[in-house]
Amino acid sequence: MTDTAKRIAALKKEQNAVILAHTYTHPEVQDLADFVGDSYGLSKKAASADGYDTIIFAGVRFMAETAKILSPEKRVLLPVLEAGCPMAGMIDEFKLLNFKSQYPDAAVVCYVNSDVRTKALSDVCVTSSNAVKIVRKIDEKRILFVPDRHLGSYVAEQVPEKEIICWNGFCPVHDAVKAADVMETKKLFPGAVVLMHPECPAETRKTADLILSTGQMEELVKEKKYRQYIIVTESGITYPLSKADRSAEFIELTTASLHCVNMKRIMPGHILESLELGIHEIDVPENTAKKARIALEKMLELAK
Ligand code: 13P
Ligand code: SF4
Repeated sequence: MTDTAKRIAALKKEQNAVILAHTYTHPEVQDLADFVGDSYGLSKKAASADGYDTIIFAGVRFMAETAKILSPEKRVLLPVLEAGCPMAGMIDEFKLLNFKSQYPDAAVVCYVNSDVRTKALSDVCVTSSNAVKIVRKIDEKRILFVPDRHLGSYVAEQVPEKEIICWNGFCPVHDAVKAADVMETKKLFPGAVVLMHPECPAETRKTADLILSTGQMEELVKEKKYRQYIIVTESGITYPLSKADRSAEFIELTTASLHCVNMKRIMPGHILESLELGIHEIDVPENTAKKARIALEKMLELAK
């Protein structure tokens, strides 16, 4: 154990804190965490983190805000406050209000990769692991899907009985992956199974064997059915995947690099500093949080 890890462990005990980390963060950050998971798994953990006074969130801002909304009585620390998600900024409350006014009969389904004010104006939140299931369950036939046009188009493919109108947002990391990048890598590793995140564009998704959230990738790898995988999502995921099946091979694209600078901002030293000084606390105004909580709790309910 490093000196930093020892000091973090002592402070965690003293402050009754739990560390939650996304699978895209640095391996040394994931090693400090009590739970590592995808957005959905982390939301569930945050909602049920009873018995803790503080949640330290190693991920990006929308994830820490979600934790605060679901566990308002807890102190939530985001060790680097600037760790944002560019997709979340691609829609705001004014744009969403205008979008809604054009389709008054539609339900608003909001990817959790969004601002709290966007969530507050939405009917239900989703993550990449439960979006298809939830859209199938809701009554409205017409859906406004915000902000990710790619996850929205993936849901539309899976649920053709609904009319899904997507906002034009995207994740810059996944949006940049071309079908040709996957084909090039497939040529070199023809026996590998291609696992891809639904934030990739529709044309690129056609080259995948399976479209999965990061948590679903880990579940599949644990089954140890395949020996070689081409992984088409942020590179941090290969660390938990390698732990899930130590004998399998995980190949990244040879012609494209999937690297989210925001997920990589948090280092162990930031976690230590945040705990030691009690800084970088997330605050969500309760009037907005109250409305966003309805959409998030509906997600937790419908995803069961
Ligand atoms: P997951 O829902 O798979 O955790 O993905 C979150 C994310 O930010 C993908 O870019
Ligand atoms: Fe946002 Fe993309 Fe980074 Fe996920 S990988 S946090 S969607 S920029």
